[in-house]
Amino acid sequence: MDIQPLLSVRQLAVRTERQPLIHSASFDVQENEIVALVGESGSGKSMIAKCIMGLPPSRSIRVSAGEIFLRDQNLLLLSESSLRKLRGKSFAYIPQSPLNALNPIMTIGRQLIEAYSPFDTTEKTSAKERALFLLHRVGFLEPELALLSFPHQLSGGMRQRVLIAMALMNSPRLLIADEPTTALDVTLQAEILHLLQDLKIEYGIGILLITHDLGIVARCANRVVILRNGRTLETNTVDNIFYHPQCDYTKTLLDSILGHPTLMASAI
Ligand SMILES: Nc1ncnc2c1ncn2[C@@H]1O[C@H](COP(=O)(O)OP(=O)(O)OP(=O)(O)O)[C@@H](O)[C@H]1O
Ligand SMILES: [Mg+2]
Repeated sequence: MDIQPLLSVRQLAVRTERQPLIHSASFDVQENEIVALVGESGSGKSMIAKCIMGLPPSRSIRVSAGEIFLRDQNLLLLSESSLRKLRGKSFAYIPQSPLNALNPIMTIGRQLIEAYSPFDTTEKTSAKERALFLLHRVGFLEPELALLSFPHQLSGGMRQRVLIAMALMNSPRLLIADEPTTALDVTLQAEILHLLQDLKIEYGIGILLITHDLGIVARCANRVVILRNGRTLETNTVDNIFYHPQCDYTKTLLDSILGHPTLMASAI
């Protein structure tokens, strides 16, 4: 019998009262793979991620059709309290904006500890140990100092690392990373992408990596889902996306980076 994918999004449609936002999105993520969800600004990448998490950005936005399976559980049929138990533990989300996602008046340590097993406050010591371990793992040379810092005392790259550590606090099987490198310079971008790849190998997690950048895709994804105007157009291996794209739109996206030798070099 086939093993069910870790995540399976099937013909997902999302709308406001007035208009559709996602028309039809279908793709899978397996354990131990990075799937890049690629599309232009406004194509619906973050909306899909938030709907997988069960956290659409406003009350007027709802899933109107489709299914979201985590293994054999249809997340859309779960109650809010069941979903809350899975969030963080089974799947975790690294939001698009590292500064807004952190509380400016709380230390990093407190935020990480509060992210740990929110249903069990008796485990503060192990939460602190795990926070220190993960801060070190994501690249803080002095994790004890980082625990005492406030977000504004950290650089953009360090804040991004904190968010990755926070998402890993409860050892999720699926990580959804929404444009984790957009605000970073090229060197930091490469470091964060390496980190995600290492985490995939170390923990065997599945990663849905949201990006509009095919250069990033070439560097670290295993498979690619192309999204346009709320529709998934093509799902393919990275090699096929670059060498045998099926859709005209994918070809257009590729053409847009053809003049960029660094990106093309990393794609080959
Ligand atoms: N809170 C909201 N209320 C109504 N519509 C929204 C809301 N958030 C996003 N949208 C709409 O949903 C669609 C998809 O937006 P989304 O933020 O998912 O795009 P994206 O692909 O993540 O873009 P970007 O690359 O800029 O982050 C857009 O048409 C956007 O205007
Ligand atoms: Mg977005």
